[in-house]
Amino acid sequence: MDKYAELKIDGKVYRLPTIEGSEGERAIDISSLRNETGYITLDDGYGNTGSCKSSITFIDGEKGILRYRGIPIEELAEKSSFIEVAHLIIMGKLPNSAELRRFSDLLTENELLHENMKYHFESFPATAHPMAILSSMINAASCFYPELVTQDSMREHFEVEAARLLSQVRTIAAFAYRQSRGLPFMYPKPEYKYTANFLHMMFSLPYQDYELRPEIVKALDLIFLLHADHEQNCSTATVRTVASSKANLFASAAAGVCALWGPLHGGANQAVLEMLEEIHRSGDDGSKFIQAAKDKNSGKRLMGFGHRVYKNYDPRAKIIKKACDDVLAKLHVKDPLLDIAKRLEETALQDPYFIERKLYPNVDFYSGIIMRAIGIPVEMFTVIFAIGRMPGWIANFKEVMEDRTARIYRPRQIYVGPTLNHYVPIKDRK
Ligand code: ACO
Repeated sequence: MDKYAELKIDGKVYRLPTIEGSEGERAIDISSLRNETGYITLDDGYGNTGSCKSSITFIDGEKGILRYRGIPIEELAEKSSFIEVAHLIIMGKLPNSAELRRFSDLLTENELLHENMKYHFESFPATAHPMAILSSMINAASCFYPELVTQDSMREHFEVEAARLLSQVRTIAAFAYRQSRGLPFMYPKPEYKYTANFLHMMFSLPYQDYELRPEIVKALDLIFLLHADHEQNCSTATVRTVASSKANLFASAAAGVCALWGPLHGGANQAVLEMLEEIHRSGDDGSKFIQAAKDKNSGKRLMGFGHRVYKNYDPRAKIIKKACDDVLAKLHVKDPLLDIAKRLEETALQDPYFIERKLYPNVDFYSGIIMRAIGIPVEMFTVIFAIGRMPGWIANFKEVMEDRTARIYRPRQIYVGPTLNHYVPIKDRK
């Protein structure tokens, strides 16, 4: 053991090995702790727990760094596209021209849902949240692909299954929206690229194609790209947990969608917009809301602010804020909610409450304003996040699947319930 940590319990000293990641992140390996000492560690919300080793994404929350496979998010946002980044994340490298063509072809060949899936859509009420439809339909889609059933056949067909999921999530998302509006489904067009095709399926009408404005396609592609992976967050950890039981790729991703839905995670983008609308409606300039967000009894938080990992400005938020200004200017949109958001940010960043807790805007703070400007309805915001996050979920699934020594994820607990108790017949119960 080169480097180790010492733990002293009841006078006895235990040595625990330490590990260092490729970016100098350090961990104490406690895998033998319970066997050797009888103790487990307790870490509510896993703030100090590394659940795996991964080579996909690196984040330094103190410095505000995010890299996919070593490449800074700023470079990818400026020079790359969502599909190139999806290849980078899933396959581990930037594609050369032949690889990119092959990957794009696979996406096109697998973009159509099985026709029988249409009947499933019809059974949802018009009021169903599209995240509920998305998770259900991703799981339902797995029924049509028997090769997903065993790990061996999944390994063999992985490239096709990954492309199918990435391609179909966009078709399902657009169909969920059309269903909720009572509009006929628009089929994907093979000549369109990924993001353009999504906009086409969302907004074209049978008698009129949606006008694909390059600034809109680019803005949405950037939003997908910025969401493509973010290491062990709530939804990705969920995907890995489900995958560790050897459930199939689609089932694992459907679980990821459910985990993403909540307002403390991906649902924050919808919550941010609803918060901004509430502030706008009430005539508040944001100061009353900030006061409420600081009061724990108010039940309010400044949505789109704060992050478990970033204790500095979220690098994605910086990119999105700039994109937001650019897109609104290009589309000649003047949105009062953007002014409110900027005022909230300015006030919060000077307020000791937010400074002391290192609460900065996260990726969700400005993304909703761009989506609103390009006509995406608010209930679809988290669905857009889910489409963007799909490469990350797929890559994390792949890491679990390829690690033949991986154990099922199964945390322990500290039981604090009643001690031994006995069954009481109903007549004797108080
Ligand atoms: N508004 C007001 N206070 C906040 C906020 C906020 N947005 N976020 C955190 N705090 C406060 C907490 O009340 C706590 O205060 P205390 O120390 O006095 O008790 C302190 O800051 C630390 O907060 P925790 O909840 O312990 O931080 P945690 O790491 O568990 O939560 C989270 C992170 C969930 C993102 C939180 O900051 C939050 O709820 N933010 C708003 C929702 C949001 O934007 N979520 C999207 C996150 S990014 C993503 O998933 C894509």
